[in-house]
Amino acid sequence: MLDLLLLNLTLPDGRVVDLQVRDGIVVHAGAGAPAHQTLDCRGLLVLPAAIDMHVHMRGGTQSVKEDWTTGSQSALAGGVTVVVDQPNTVPPITNREHFKVRVADATAHSYCGFGVNGAVTRDARIADLWQGGALAFGEVFIAPSSYGEALTLEVQQRTFAEIHRLGGLVTVHAEEVSGTAPVGLRQHSLQRSPAGEERAVQALRASCAPGQRVHCCHMSTAGSLDAAHRAGMTAEVTPHHLLLSIERFADTDTHGRVNPPLRSERLQRELFLAWDRIDLIASDHAPHTLNEKAQAFTNAPSGLPGVETMVPLLMAHVLTSELSLASVVQKTAVAPAKVLGIPPAGFSPGDRADFALYPREAVPVEAADLHSRCTWTPYQGMLAVFPERVIMRGTVVYDHGDFTRIDPCWYRGRGYMERPQI
Ligand code: DOR
Ligand code: ZN
Repeated sequence: MLDLLLLNLTLPDGRVVDLQVRDGIVVHAGAGAPAHQTLDCRGLLVLPAAIDMHVHMRGGTQSVKEDWTTGSQSALAGGVTVVVDQPNTVPPITNREHFKVRVADATAHSYCGFGVNGAVTRDARIADLWQGGALAFGEVFIAPSSYGEALTLEVQQRTFAEIHRLGGLVTVHAEEVSGTAPVGLRQHSLQRSPAGEERAVQALRASCAPGQRVHCCHMSTAGSLDAAHRAGMTAEVTPHHLLLSIERFADTDTHGRVNPPLRSERLQRELFLAWDRIDLIASDHAPHTLNEKAQAFTNAPSGLPGVETMVPLLMAHVLTSELSLASVVQKTAVAPAKVLGIPPAGFSPGDRADFALYPREAVPVEAADLHSRCTWTPYQGMLAVFPERVIMRGTVVYDHGDFTRIDPCWYRGRGYMERPQI
């Protein structure tokens, strides 16, 4: 007996099959067989569920912004079944003890699968984190950001060399910063300029070990994206840099404040047109409360929520044929799995049975319908296609607004070594 049968599912190549799932894995794509649960997928767009490799889940003293329960529900409701948690928590994930607490919190409360990254700071215990199961390292702050202190060049070189020796992936927040507290979005974008971001990306190669595998986080312009590729690095782009620009906000509107900053509409369009050159999409989900964002621009924290709207916004562009469905799957599911070494979700026997079922209808984004604890979105009113159902390891975990919690899978890095219990 199968666990799940997805009837009349249209594959990317146009074939219509019944997909058989057992023990969290696809076992056959062809004709159906008896199953405990059967879902008819006729008329729906069924996608391998996304991996969002850049999510700040907060928790602990930052739980007013988000925690594993609300953040992971937000992920599932947006068709994301695996999130990679960023280590600039309070305190940051710099050693095995903090890492274990973080994994225990996620294991107890997350509704979706997760990986946890190790922090890279002067005092970080890199090898310990790697053996503890860190999926990757970073985001590493080359420039300071909310909850992130910039590394000195000496610490950067030492820690990067160690990560390279261990065979780990380092993910980097590369920017150049000048001036003091900015008063508005335009000044913010000048102080963390596109040219400075490009220079920071170029400089990165020089401080890396020869042959080191480096991933550039949230490239905000096509120029930076190309610079990352010239330097032999993979690069992610966020939906906010792809779809939002300074012109959409009043200059002092803190809800548009993020690092790296939003750019002009011209640069945003140019980035959108560079879609085919983007390796992968990640949200940089970085929620702050409305109260925190209600402060004067100079004091307000940088960061936007986005894990729940990432794929839905892209799917709206699939419906209008501006983006191909295959490219969205490639950049939200296939590429992140490959970069991180996570087993792929898909339709072939042996694939992880994580899927999101989308209707062919876009609706305006409405903050009140989203699940992040921060209760706001920078995408209010923009068109998006939200999944009706989400399946994780063969179980329906999200169904028209209702969540079912199953044990979340912890995706560990290759360095993981279980310590004997004494
Ligand atoms: O705007 C940002 N907010 N950029 C980052 O790199 C960090 C993030 C946060 O954690 O709030
Ligand atoms: Zn960042």
